[in-house]
Amino acid sequence: MKEEFVHMEQEALSRIAGAPDLKTLDDVRVAFLGRKGQITEILKGLGNASPEERRSLGQTANQLKGRVTQALEERKAVLEQALRQEKAQQQRVDLSLPGREAPRGQVHLLNQIADEISDIFIQMGFQLALGPDVETEYYNFDALNTPDDHPARDSHDTFFVKPGVVLRTQTSPVQIRIMEQTRPPVAIIAPGRVYRVDLDATHSPMFVQMEGLLVDKGITFSDLKGTLMHFIHSFFGPDIQVRFRPHFFPFTEPSAEVDILWTAKDRHTGETKSKWLEILGCGMVHPEVFKNVSYDYEEYSGYAFGLGIDRIAMVRHGISSITHLYENDMRFLEQF
Ligand code: DAH
Repeated sequence: MKEEFVHMEQEALSRIAGAPDLKTLDDVRVAFLGRKGQITEILKGLGNASPEERRSLGQTANQLKGRVTQALEERKAVLEQALRQEKAQQQRVDLSLPGREAPRGQVHLLNQIADEISDIFIQMGFQLALGPDVETEYYNFDALNTPDDHPARDSHDTFFVKPGVVLRTQTSPVQIRIMEQTRPPVAIIAPGRVYRVDLDATHSPMFVQMEGLLVDKGITFSDLKGTLMHFIHSFFGPDIQVRFRPHFFPFTEPSAEVDILWTAKDRHTGETKSKWLEILGCGMVHPEVFKNVSYDYEEYSGYAFGLGIDRIAMVRHGISSITHLYENDMRFLEQF
């Protein structure tokens, strides 16, 4: 019997030592220590032995069971450790790989410029005002002294939403909405999107303007000029040359366009060139406009101006096509 035990132990230990994985090891455990395992069966069979035999065989069998159990546990620990190492190896982090970039949002160039310009006017006491993109023909044209057959309408190529309702072609209707709601003095700037049926390198069907309006007693063209000069010098620098050129707008009289003398290096030849570039329209509010909002034009006078934000962005940064501003190509936008 004892010899059998020695044999069984040797077999058990050698199968344990040779088990290549946890599954095989567990099979060995079941074969010896399971409910029908070899060692279990011996212990069960002791019931039939004589008391002395039972004592000595029982002790030997229990010691055998103890050693096999310990060998199983040790082998299990070794195999588990190996498995953990293998997994860790598979999941190893390669610290030499370049990091993945987390893309970061930023304010769009047009909004940066609009914010910068707004700040300059807000510091002079202007308040921010907004109006709707979908506007009635009355606010967009009629109230601004632009009747149906007026030639100025031709230059606007309007998107109609339905008869009498348009996508605003300019931010000027905000002037009317503000004057209807408030009494002078009024000093507002109104940035916003405007829409025209137009598309080429310098025209986009949607673009951004900023309107300005100031009404009070005794306002003259020199107030307009002083305010705009302050803005232009703050924005483009104190040395920039400016010219006011007579122009026509239906809602101002007299009216002007303002150009700046812009010097830029030619990207290809490296040569510096100067050009007069138009950046805004302006003028003294037309008496007809005051009549439409029931302002007494004998008592009050005022000026208005309209800036093209896209135009100013293009001039300042040497952008050749307005479409760049709306394509949302990150390689372009990230430069600003
Ligand atoms: N609304 C004009 C346009 O879109 C720009 C403009 C010119 C606005 C003169 C004004 C102004 O307020 O006084 O072409």
